[in-house]
Amino acid sequence: MTEDFTLWVNLHQKRIEHFMMQNLKDESFNSLIHEVCSHGSLNGGKRFRALLCYAIGEATQTDKLILDHIASSIEFIHAYSLIHDDLPSMDNDDLRRGKPTCHIKFNEAQAILAGDGLQSIAFHILSLPSFLIDDQKKLKLINSLSNTIGINGMVKGQSLDIENTLKIGEINSLEKLQELKTGLLFSFIGSATCLVSDNPSEEMNIKITNLCALLGKVYQITDDILDYESNDGVLGKTSGKDRKDNKLTYVSLLGINEAKKINSKYFDEIKEIINSMSGNTIFLNELTSKIYQRVH
Ligand code: IPE
Ligand code: IPE
Ligand code: MG
Ligand code: MG
Ligand code: MG
Repeated sequence: MTEDFTLWVNLHQKRIEHFMMQNLKDESFNSLIHEVCSHGSLNGGKRFRALLCYAIGEATQTDKLILDHIASSIEFIHAYSLIHDDLPSMDNDDLRRGKPTCHIKFNEAQAILAGDGLQSIAFHILSLPSFLIDDQKKLKLINSLSNTIGINGMVKGQSLDIENTLKIGEINSLEKLQELKTGLLFSFIGSATCLVSDNPSEEMNIKITNLCALLGKVYQITDDILDYESNDGVLGKTSGKDRKDNKLTYVSLLGINEAKKINSKYFDEIKEIINSMSGNTIFLNELTSKIYQRVH
């Protein structure tokens, strides 16, 4: 990792945290729900999804004030999905980002409400007058994000994951499940950043979209590998949970070595795309490596 990249990451992590904080402002004096929402969204996430928006923006020379809205909207959706993912009726996890999950620190009802609240903030941010893109594009983004996370997208993936009815041996179903629950939000990053950028060519559009879809795959496979290999202290969440809950993952289906092999193949494809892209891809290149090599 170069010094420039480390500085870039720190700068943009601060930038997104600040923007998110502004949008979580409590207008009614320290209400409990604001506290729960802050705990669930401003409590030390890696912000890789937001960083990916900014890194693509470096390659397409997109205005960062515009990217702030997309990046924070995605981070709020992601935070909501994690709060609900951890609920007792779902994965039943008590540790997230090294801290007690929302329903443990507060209670289950407040955690459900915080997830609901964060989801609506995400859409609110995309509809703000201060989001300086034309209204047709705003509508497109809101339409696309609602599809991405709804009952034909992330929610469907989570439903399949919880039902756990896919049969061992069904690699296509597993691929689909992971695409739905994790991959589509990464694909949205690609399509959304291209939509608000002034000048990406059709060719650049396709490359960014393909890259994001592949990164979504790598993201969840790496998550499955880390669940198997790492520990609570490093992960900041409960390790070994997938095996305990009998979840269908690349590791449970194909074994740890094959899971790593497939992950590495997808990563090579990502690098090939980046090498063929024009514009400033330095940060995108370093970020995708950082995501692939992450230890938590
Ligand atoms: C964890 O996401 C859940 C998955 C979709 C794999 P992250 O590992 O990005 O979680 P944070 O935001 O950094 O905590
Ligand atoms: C979570 O997947 C996916 C979503 C929240 C949409 P996991 O259940 O594997 O995530 P972790 O391991 O709890 O972070
Ligand atoms: Mg889950
Ligand atoms: Mg989980
Ligand atoms: Mg996991």
